[in-house]
Amino acid sequence: MSNESTKKMIIVALGVCLVCSILVSTAAVTLNARQEKNKELDKIKNILIAGELMQENVDVKSVFEEKVESELIHLETGEFIPKSDYSAKLSPETFNIKKMADDDQYGKLIPPEKDIARINKMPKVMSIYIVKIDDQIEKYILPIYGKGLWSTLYGFLALGSDLQTIQGITFYEHGETPGLGGEVDNPNWKAIWKGKQAFKDNGQVGITVIKGQVDPDNPNAKYQVDGLSGSTLTTRGLDAMVKFWLGETGYGPFIQHAKKQKAELNEQG
Ligand SMILES: Cc1cc2nc3c(=O)[nH]c(=O)nc-3n(C[C@H](O)[C@H](O)[C@H](O)COP(=O)(O)O)c2cc1C
Repeated sequence: MSNESTKKMIIVALGVCLVCSILVSTAAVTLNARQEKNKELDKIKNILIAGELMQENVDVKSVFEEKVESELIHLETGEFIPKSDYSAKLSPETFNIKKMADDDQYGKLIPPEKDIARINKMPKVMSIYIVKIDDQIEKYILPIYGKGLWSTLYGFLALGSDLQTIQGITFYEHGETPGLGGEVDNPNWKAIWKGKQAFKDNGQVGITVIKGQVDPDNPNAKYQVDGLSGSTLTTRGLDAMVKFWLGETGYGPFIQHAKKQKAELNEQG
C-alpha cells in the first residue's frame, strides 16, 4: 500500500484516534480518584477557613483532625445522632450533602413555600463541625447551600459559642461569574460577616444580605451584610440561603437545642 493511498490514510487516522481516546479515558479514570480527594481536601480547607483555623503551609488534614470535631445531627429535632447509630451510609467521614439529599432514607423534598434557598431537596441529617479549645466549644461550623444566579453555592457558616454571633462564611463550590457573583470568594467581603448577629432579640433570623452597602448608623447594621455589587441575583440567593439554613427548616431546631444545653450547663456550674 503506498503512503498516499486513501485506505492507508484512513487506517492511520483511525489508529491515532483510538490511541488518543484510550489515553484520554485512562487519564480521566485514573485522575478521578485524585480529583475526588482534592475536592475533599478543599472542603476541609474551607471548614478551617470558616473556623479561622487556616494558616499558610500547614497540613490541612492534621489541623482538621486535631482541632475540629465532626458530628451528625437530626435537622428536625436538632439532636446529635449518637455514634452508636453511625453506619457505612451514615458517617461524618463519608457524609456527602448531595448524595444524602437524594437518598430515599436520609433525604427529603422541601415544600415549595419553605424552599427559599431554591434547593428542592435536603438531607434530614447533617454533618456539622465543632471547634473546641480546652474542651470548651468555640465555634459551630454549619454547612449551607442555595441557588445563586447560575449555580448552587455550597459553603459553611461559622457561629460562635453563643450560637448568635457569626464568625465567618466561605464557599467551596459555585459557578457564579468571577468578578460578579464570584466575589463571594473575595476575602474582604467574607470579612464583613465576622461579628454580625444571626438572630434578633425575639429569636427570628435577623441576618440580611442587603443590596448595596450597609449604613453603619442604621440601628439594624449589626444584622446586615453588604450585597455584591452588580450581582443582585447572587446577593438575593445568599440572603435566602442564610435565612433558610438558620431558620426552622434548617439549623433552627439544632440552635435552640444547643442554646438550651448551654444554659443548663451554665446553671449547673
Ligand atoms: C456575563 C454576565 C454574567 C453575570 N453574572 C452574574 C452573577 O454571577 N451574579 C449576579 O447576581 N449577576 C450576574 N450578572 C448580572 C445579572 O444579569 C443582573 O444584571 C444583575 O444581577 C443585576 O444586578 P444589579 O441590580 O446590582 O446591577 C451577570 C451578567 C452578565 C452579562
